[in-house]
Amino acid sequence: MADKRASEILKGARGEAARAKSSADLEQVRVKYLGRQGILTQFLRSLSSIPVAERPEVGREANLAKAEIETLLGERLAELKAAERRHALESQRVDLTLPGRRPSPGTLHPLTLVQDEIIEIFLGLGFAVAEGPEVESDFYNFEALNIPRDHPARDMQDTFYLSEDVLLRTHTSPMQIRIMKAMRPPLRYIFPGRVYRRDIADASHSPVFHQVEGLAVDRNISMGDLKGTLELFAREMFGPRTTTRFRPSFFPFTEPSAEVDVRCFLCGGEGCRVCKQSGWLEILGSGMVHPQVLRNVGYDPEEVTGWAFGMGVERIAMLKYGIDDIRLFFENDLRFLTQFA
Ligand code: DAH
Repeated sequence: MADKRASEILKGARGEAARAKSSADLEQVRVKYLGRQGILTQFLRSLSSIPVAERPEVGREANLAKAEIETLLGERLAELKAAERRHALESQRVDLTLPGRRPSPGTLHPLTLVQDEIIEIFLGLGFAVAEGPEVESDFYNFEALNIPRDHPARDMQDTFYLSEDVLLRTHTSPMQIRIMKAMRPPLRYIFPGRVYRRDIADASHSPVFHQVEGLAVDRNISMGDLKGTLELFAREMFGPRTTTRFRPSFFPFTEPSAEVDVRCFLCGGEGCRVCKQSGWLEILGSGMVHPQVLRNVGYDPEEVTGWAFGMGVERIAMLKYGIDDIRLFFENDLRFLTQFA
């Protein structure tokens, strides 16, 4: 009498293999039938307990069933794996036509842009650029510039002192002394750089800011050269219709001294909030290099004369772009910074 069990086990395995939805499901089917405790494995193990006469026949069927289950599991596995691979390829598909993600290259800081613009204008006039130390000695920052001992700028309240004689420069003017000592006239230089003052930050003050200093020394240099140079600068910087005004002023290192104003380009001189109703905007200090300063660097004021100027980069940038708070330059808010590229 033929034993039906092998063919039933085979039927069961075939059905379950067909229903398996993934290779993981199928693995469970394999374990269920062919594993150590699997249905077919146990059936094979039980063959020894059936009558000897039936054993060859039942054993043969059982072995055939085992081979067939192995084959069908193999085929089903290949099918499922292929489907899984297709699915993976589909879901991980790379769209080569998508535009790439560009790295953000950043933008130049507005102060860098304005400083570069100032430098460009003076390079065009034949000036050279030099930079010097932010940590200065009292001699270069004050003494050689004819700034007297009792001048308020020399007060601890106004200047960051590192020691009795060493300080953070309060202006770029010490570069006038450094270059005049290092070289001989004719000199035409600008000195951009960072300067420090003991100010509490508010809308118009910052303890660190930037200046560009200018210096021209030669035989027969006159106030007329200064005026012409700065008028040209103002027109390049603020537009060809810019009007300038030279106002008498005082600096210890220049004589005579002048402050330069440009006609308010916001109101055209009518008077507004930005020019504080005056119609004019102050942009820099300047003057003829004081004879004592020339003597301090070993020059003969009877032989050479010179002029100098100093401007605040933040101030120029604020006027040019209508920025009303100096702190914006130092807060590094990208929403502000990226507007100037
Ligand atoms: N050093 C001055 C300041 O920081 C600015 C200045 C004025 C510079 C007149 C000059 C000058 O070279 O001639 O306020």
